[in-house]
Amino acid sequence: MTQKSLKCLITGGAGFIGSHLAEELVNRGHRVTIIDNLYNGKQTYHDDLFQKIPFLKISVLDHEMIDLLVANHDVIFHLGAILGVKSTMDRSVELMETNIDGTRNVLRAALKYDKKVVFASTSEVYGKATPPFAEDGDRLYGATNKLRWCYAVSKTLEETLCLGYGLKGLKVSVVRYFNIYGPRAKEGPYAGVIPRFISAALKGDPIQVYGDGTQTRCFTYISDAVEATIRAIDDECNNEIINIGSQSEMNILNLAKLVRKLSHSNSPILYVPFEDVYPLGFEEIPNRYPDVSKMSSLLSFKPKVSFIEGLSETIEWFKENI
Ligand SMILES: NC(=O)c1ccc[n+]([C@@H]2O[C@H](COP(=O)([O-])OP(=O)(O)OC[C@H]3O[C@@H](n4cnc5c(N)ncnc54)[C@H](O)[C@@H]3O)[C@@H](O)[C@H]2O)c1
Repeated sequence: MTQKSLKCLITGGAGFIGSHLAEELVNRGHRVTIIDNLYNGKQTYHDDLFQKIPFLKISVLDHEMIDLLVANHDVIFHLGAILGVKSTMDRSVELMETNIDGTRNVLRAALKYDKKVVFASTSEVYGKATPPFAEDGDRLYGATNKLRWCYAVSKTLEETLCLGYGLKGLKVSVVRYFNIYGPRAKEGPYAGVIPRFISAALKGDPIQVYGDGTQTRCFTYISDAVEATIRAIDDECNNEIINIGSQSEMNILNLAKLVRKLSHSNSPILYVPFEDVYPLGFEEIPNRYPDVSKMSSLLSFKPKVSFIEGLSETIEWFKENI
């Protein structure tokens, strides 16, 4: 399926992962349409790309437009979503409605027109379960009034919708991303930790480590995430949920030190209590570590970019773009 030229629709295509995915699909000779309501997209990052491929400012909540667009494409990469722990706490209703209703619009239309969907889910769905996280492992969330869990709950529900539509005959694959980073990752106080640290290091600001810095994550470079996402088009992946991640685990304090070193920065490292950053109801996930055996067997894929290499590339990009 990946061999012939496909008509690909990317929702959330002006975002970090979606824009890289769009570029790679175009490089491989596929035809791509991007839709995004620019809730969190940066059109200025992609001016070149948007001259080459159609970009439509449309919300995934516009079910009539979604229906029309899905009908005219072969594969839909559904990445358009509201994400991030801070968003989940500040805008939980908007997040739940956008994510769940948007996904339902995409899935309904794709079933109607017999199109393939690759749905972007997240390692957040594992919640407080004990790593390593395997796709068929249990999930564990905190109390409902801890709004921090609403992003995980929305993606869990969306995954369940995907599998339900799969039972009705939809060709759908779910990719669960583990902390993707690279050029164009969003910076800002509540953004992913890597862009936040790089931005502070390059500006000479304190690098703020939330909590004691012993929490660990496995970071995955964007080109690896994109490659795995494209492989998930394959029919063998229908009705499958697949972790997309690396297994190089790093604690956040060591990450801060590494970013500072690679950026040649003198920024101090500052510990900030979680209570000072997040409102009541926040819970941290201490360790996040994927089981990647399914990614390796089903997608025949292993991440290729080393952490040092990926981090250095990302720092170079931020030097030009902050
Ligand atoms: N970056 C990661 O590490 C990571 C990890 C796990 C899962 N994901 C998932 O991958 C997908 C892409 O994430 P990203 O990191 O590129 O984030 P991003 O915020 O850069 O991209 C999401 C895009 O969706 C768009 N969007 C929001 N609401 C929309 C709507 N109503 N209609 C159309 N577009 C809308 C935003 O404007 C944004 O451009 C998301 O579904 C996210 O949940 C990302």
